[in-house]
Amino acid sequence: MSFRFLNKDSLTHILFPKLRSKLHKSIDAGLETLLDYRRLAMLCSAIRATRDIKGDAIEFGTFRGGSAGVILQNLSKEKFLHICDSFAGMPEVASQDNYHQKGDFAETDEERVFRGLSNLGKNFRMHVGFFEETLPLLASDANQRYSFVHVDADLYESILTALNHCVPRMDDGSVIIFDDYGSPTCIGAKMAVDEFFSERPETVVGLTGPQYATVIGGGNARELLFSHLPLGFRISALSNSLFRPDSVVEIDG
Ligand SMILES: C[S@@+](CC[C@H](N)C(=O)[O-])C[C@H]1O[C@@H](n2cnc3c(N)ncnc32)[C@H](O)[C@@H]1O
Repeated sequence: MSFRFLNKDSLTHILFPKLRSKLHKSIDAGLETLLDYRRLAMLCSAIRATRDIKGDAIEFGTFRGGSAGVILQNLSKEKFLHICDSFAGMPEVASQDNYHQKGDFAETDEERVFRGLSNLGKNFRMHVGFFEETLPLLASDANQRYSFVHVDADLYESILTALNHCVPRMDDGSVIIFDDYGSPTCIGAKMAVDEFFSERPETVVGLTGPQYATVIGGGNARELLFSHLPLGFRISALSNSLFRPDSVVEIDG
């Protein structure tokens, strides 16, 4: 596993100089991510697409703060980014989870993430602990709404908890990005999302690699987010497979 910002996506890097400068700002702030440039670009696009919708942004699964840093830099002044992570590794896993174990991702430093995000000069709040313990505080604020949700928690129960909290607090047109829906090591993540949306009008569509998304109330998240990407990105997406979602691979056991 690599904990550095990936720099292999040189084409994406060239086509999106603003993202590059945001990444460098985050790196300078001591934040690191497991996401590649294309997935980070989709986060920027989602923030842009939901700018005029009432509500804050929230991330479930922050680890060393890199994806949160990119989201935060794109956020408008009146919004907050809520950051939810134990910063002490994963909780007990469920029978639906096929790869991760309790304690995975413990190698992070809450103080360092706080300092790094503070350097970016935007509004954020850290909710440190397991989601089940920290979400009741957010839920106690009757005015709390979300326009953008980044779900990167990998686990069945964690993702169901996140969706049960957020979706009733989101207006139509708000966006949820699932970082790990298509990942063969996160089968429980896909199960949680499919289960949650099975009786709802939303569809979950692939963006790039394992990353999928949905628009609350219905609509095609891929079309929406691509329309908010810079022209160079859209051309490259048409001309090659840069933005092809992975087919979802299921692993037994
Ligand atoms: C894949 S990592 C997040 C990666 C990060 N977004 C990045 O930019 O590299 C998943 C994170 O989810 C957190 N997590 C999963 N389930 C959780 C839960 N129920 N409560 C708190 N944190 C949880 C883990 O602690 C871990 O840090």
